Amino acid sequence: MTKITIPALMQSKAERKPIVMVTAYDYPGARAAERAGVDMVLVGDSGAQVVLGHESTVSVTTDELLVLAKAVRRGTETAFMVCDVPFGSTELSDEQAVATAVRFVKEAGADGIKIEGGGEPQLSRVRAIVAAGIPVVGHVGLTPQTATALGGLRAQGRTIASARRVVREAIAVQEAGAFCVVVEAVPAEIVELLRDELRIPIIGIGAGPADGQVLVLHDLIGFTEGQAAKFVKRYGTIGEDTTAAIAAYADEVRSGVFPGPEHCYAASDDAVEAARA
Ligand code: KIV
Ligand code: NA
Repeated sequence: MTKITIPALMQSKAERKPIVMVTAYDYPGARAAERAGVDMVLVGDSGAQVVLGHESTVSVTTDELLVLAKAVRRGTETAFMVCDVPFGSTELSDEQAVATAVRFVKEAGADGIKIEGGGEPQLSRVRAIVAAGIPVVGHVGLTPQTATALGGLRAQGRTIASARRVVREAIAVQEAGAFCVVVEAVPAEIVELLRDELRIPIIGIGAGPADGQVLVLHDLIGFTEGQAAKFVKRYGTIGEDTTAAIAAYADEVRSGVFPGPEHCYAASDDAVEAARA
């Protein structure tokens, strides 16, 4: 496979060929995504919860996400790799946002960054980062970094005002220079209209068919606990499988079945003699 480029993603939209994006937070996750042939990987700040155990995305730092991003880079060859910029790393100024985005490109080898929101300050950040030569993915609808201000993790675009806001912000993010936009937790009918309106691909999550889809890796492989969001579909049982494997190992250690002779190294008689002496 050849490396996925921005023109290739634009082409996918034009041909109505759905774009596949999945999150990844480490080397094996990136390798698996690569082997499965996805188009884009996202080092999401959802890693805050799914691999680092934070309560929400807001507390994760740039340094923490960079560790994850570097590991993903080492495992990613053809997929287009996007990194989330965490909450607090872009809010202060365009300069701060560019400096953060540059770190993800320079230190982690990101192909692009994703930034949440479509209000005036965020649009200014998008323009500044794009002007610095870094491809930007926008993110509108439910924006988890500022979910408290939205009244919690809830669907957007369900009222007249909210639907207008989603549409306005998605268009504004495109006009600010984003090459792609994630739309999260918005009714499919709204996204369908937006899809025809925008030149850039819409990657949906809880947003209906769109130009592409993204899911959190650990949600789709079944490696998250508790009630998943309505839009999650589970394709695997890795959580249960992992627990069962560890439990089987624990049983065998406790019963003396593991390790067996086949897991042990052989020594020469001389070495055993020497150890005895
Ligand atoms: O952090 C993340 O995983 C995301 C996707 C759900 C879009 O932002
Ligand atoms: Na995110």
